[in-house]
Amino acid sequence: MNELKIGICGWGNVATGLYKSIHKNKKQIEAAANTKIDIIVIGARRDNPKCDPKEVNIERDIFDVLNHDIDVMVELIGGVDVARELILAAIEKGIHVITANKAVLYHHGDEIFSKAAAKNVHVLFEASVCAGTPIIKMLKEELAGNRISKISGMLNGTSNFILSQMEDGAEFDTTLKIAQEEGYAEPNPSFDIEGMDAAHKIGILSSIALGTPLPPKDFYVEGITDIDSKDFEYAKNLGFTIKHLAVASLSEKSIQLRAHPVLISLDSYLAGLKGVRNGIEIETDLIGTLHVAGSGAGQESTASGLISDLIHLSNSDISSSSTALLASEANIQPIKKMRFGYYFRIESTSGDIDLKVIESIFDDNQISINLNKFDDANIVIVTEPFIESLQEIVVTALNNLDAIVGVKTIRIEF
Ligand SMILES: NC(=O)c1ccc[n+]([C@@H]2O[C@H](COP(=O)([O-])OP(=O)(O)OC[C@H]3O[C@@H](n4cnc5c(N)ncnc54)[C@H](OP(=O)(O)O)[C@@H]3O)[C@@H](O)[C@H]2O)c1
Repeated sequence: MNELKIGICGWGNVATGLYKSIHKNKKQIEAAANTKIDIIVIGARRDNPKCDPKEVNIERDIFDVLNHDIDVMVELIGGVDVARELILAAIEKGIHVITANKAVLYHHGDEIFSKAAAKNVHVLFEASVCAGTPIIKMLKEELAGNRISKISGMLNGTSNFILSQMEDGAEFDTTLKIAQEEGYAEPNPSFDIEGMDAAHKIGILSSIALGTPLPPKDFYVEGITDIDSKDFEYAKNLGFTIKHLAVASLSEKSIQLRAHPVLISLDSYLAGLKGVRNGIEIETDLIGTLHVAGSGAGQESTASGLISDLIHLSNSDISSSSTALLASEANIQPIKKMRFGYYFRIESTSGDIDLKVIESIFDDNQISINLNKFDDANIVIVTEPFIESLQEIVVTALNNLDAIVGVKTIRIEF
């Protein structure tokens, strides 16, 4: 190939970042790609005052981008339904696809990848997880000879920023406001703080490393909205901090896929990663545990991931698709069948609650505990691992006691 002809769909934050980054580092990118790189057309339903595309063709209907003579369509519109339609239309026409869109891959990945394989078209998606921090190609290529048993990490910068601030004593609402003012959180932050963004990303990583389907079934997702600063105080006293962790792990016959808050040992690698950065821990059989950390969002960081796909595409054998993912035989385990240690925070109206009654509830369910009373109103219990289905039973029994105001639980990641 002596020229890579690009069509970009969408003209927002990431698309304009890609345009600017390609122009900024053009020489270097072309040298790495071994070819000339040209943006032929942009699908923009309106102009973006932050970026002038100069002489590049503009199509107001993004689907018209596919009528140009392009090798690759870079999908940067986000969302699910129209993005799916656009990607499938490109594949149908034999146009390669690069996307930063985790949501469309999470919901329609299997459909998209199987159609791409049938049409011998590449679908590349490095920027869809952790933006420019390289993780997708690392899993697909550099680690391809390893058996991966676990991927876990903080995959949502907004949640990690909020929890890091709370660890230093800030309150949830104030921190969310700061995150929005600083541009880390969307005006509607629910996707981030309710865990779905992290779930999309670990779903994609799991499909590569463990062969789980896209969309996956039995995926447990919980956000960070119930955590308060007192939890950090108690967790710290016990040698833990709190993180939002997305996990894909493989045991002999089953796979765990989950994204939720956890107590994690203060001296672990992931506990030390603070702020908006993403951090991932990968457990492999051949090189042991591997850590990856870096920016998980932002115009330039995402452009870096997209450019790496452009370079990869131009250097790969264009006539054969590299899209095929593993297909796993293992079942995804429902959360109720998993085992966790738990942090229980039991809030009471007075300090004179009978601790023996509380202990007996755990005892009746054969759960070993370590009970702590850091102040009058709160009893904090850390348990040995037990099956998740028991947790609801214990919480109900505790809530039935007089003087109990509320019971909160957080899983512990050992
Ligand atoms: N921002 C990041 O840091 C980041 C990081 C990693 C991955 N991503 C992913 O990158 C993608 C783009 O994100 P972004 O931050 O650039 O979003 P954005 O700033 O909202 O830009 C989206 C662009 O797509 C256009 N668009 C949306 N729906 C369309 C439709 N149905 N038809 C035509 N145009 C449409 C929008 O047009 P209008 O302006 O007219 O609405 C806008 O130009 C998303 O999938 C996102 O998840 C973003």
